[in-house]
Amino acid sequence: MSGIDGKTIVLGVTGGIAAYKACILCSALRKQGASVHVIMTENATRFVAPLTFETLSNHPVVTDTFARPETWEVEHIALAKAADVFVIAPATANIMAKMAHGIADDMLSTTVLATKAPILIAPAMNTGMWTAQATVENAEILRGRGVRFVGPEGGYLACGDNGAGRMSEPDAILAAIEEILTPKRDLEGLKVMVTAGATREPLDPVRFLTNHSSGKMGFAIAEAARDRGADVLLVCGSVSAEIPSGVRILHVKTTQDLYDAVTANAPDMDVIVQAAAPADYRVEEVSTQKIKKTDGQPLVIRLVENPDIAAAVGKMKKAGQTLVGFAAETEKIEGNARVKLKKKHLDLIVANDVTQPGAGFNVDTNIASLITEDATEDLPMMMKSELAHRILDKVVQLRG
Ligand code: PMT
Repeated sequence: MSGIDGKTIVLGVTGGIAAYKACILCSALRKQGASVHVIMTENATRFVAPLTFETLSNHPVVTDTFARPETWEVEHIALAKAADVFVIAPATANIMAKMAHGIADDMLSTTVLATKAPILIAPAMNTGMWTAQATVENAEILRGRGVRFVGPEGGYLACGDNGAGRMSEPDAILAAIEEILTPKRDLEGLKVMVTAGATREPLDPVRFLTNHSSGKMGFAIAEAARDRGADVLLVCGSVSAEIPSGVRILHVKTTQDLYDAVTANAPDMDVIVQAAAPADYRVEEVSTQKIKKTDGQPLVIRLVENPDIAAAVGKMKKAGQTLVGFAAETEKIEGNARVKLKKKHLDLIVANDVTQPGAGFNVDTNIASLITEDATEDLPMMMKSELAHRILDKVVQLRG
């Protein structure tokens, strides 16, 4: 069965002669069992009639004419959410520029801005436009945000030029969509332990110290590793996100519990990714009774340091193991992360500035740098699910 079967593909068609090839793509996607929803720009409708796509997709085609339905605002969000893959073929220099700069002035640019689905674009334009500095920079911005490209190919163009700019053939676009929908199996046979969430340090029977970790980052890594074929053990502290299925789970409460679970299982693991946010301190003496108010006097609680799990795992590191840690920083991000990389004998540290909007605790996105002994790769804001794959790509690369 094809990875496309049963999936929802939103196909954006912009104005170019290659729009006719998008008809072949639409038909091929349907034959492979996809539900296809087509959005055309007004210029695209000059090359191919919406009726053609309506017939091929068996769904109404959304265009930018003023006859759009009153539910337009709702509809574009619904399509943005429904997409398993958002494909734009052909993609003009114009749509690339709009996407790169967040311009949302028609149905297609608005919907693609709203989607969280993987985006694939098949550029098609004159060679001069493709090689223009503005387009080169826009392509760079889009690639940096995780937008995938297929083509363009070289050859004779409709304008008479010979060079890069011809849209890839529908078969190549189909293969690229299939690749996105069929996860890699490059972690098959590997045991991967992931930690996620916060730990809770009790003060008394009703109170505890903790932090804002939701588990989202660790869960995204556990899910990505599972999808890539790993046998995943998820060690899970206190979380608010939905716990993934298809992985083995150990629940822990305190940092000492997390330490015990991780160090007990570490020798058996090939890869260990520590995305949890353990409390660095615990109360020296937990009160057996609820602590009473002190009539306006300051309440003094002594905290003692918890064990450092990543450092302990680093000390017991076995040959062939790959250790990944996170660094939740608020200042001197790279410098602080590098100290942790070395101190904890990690192969890779994922540094996130948790003060940045869209990064760190309890959000679906993150802004991270992948730091190894000899390199730093700064990544743009992306979904935690996408970042999880980028981290695992790095792990695979480090393991050679
Ligand atoms: O769960 P989310 O809401 O999605 O939020 C994600 C996140 C912000 C928690 C995540 O991206 C992250 O940064 N996790 C690490 C949080 C943290 O504890 O960072 P740190 O810089 O204090 O610790 C560095 C590394 O040592 C981490 O891998 C941590 O798991 C580990 N550590 C920390 C303390 C401790 N006592 N033992 C440890 O092993």
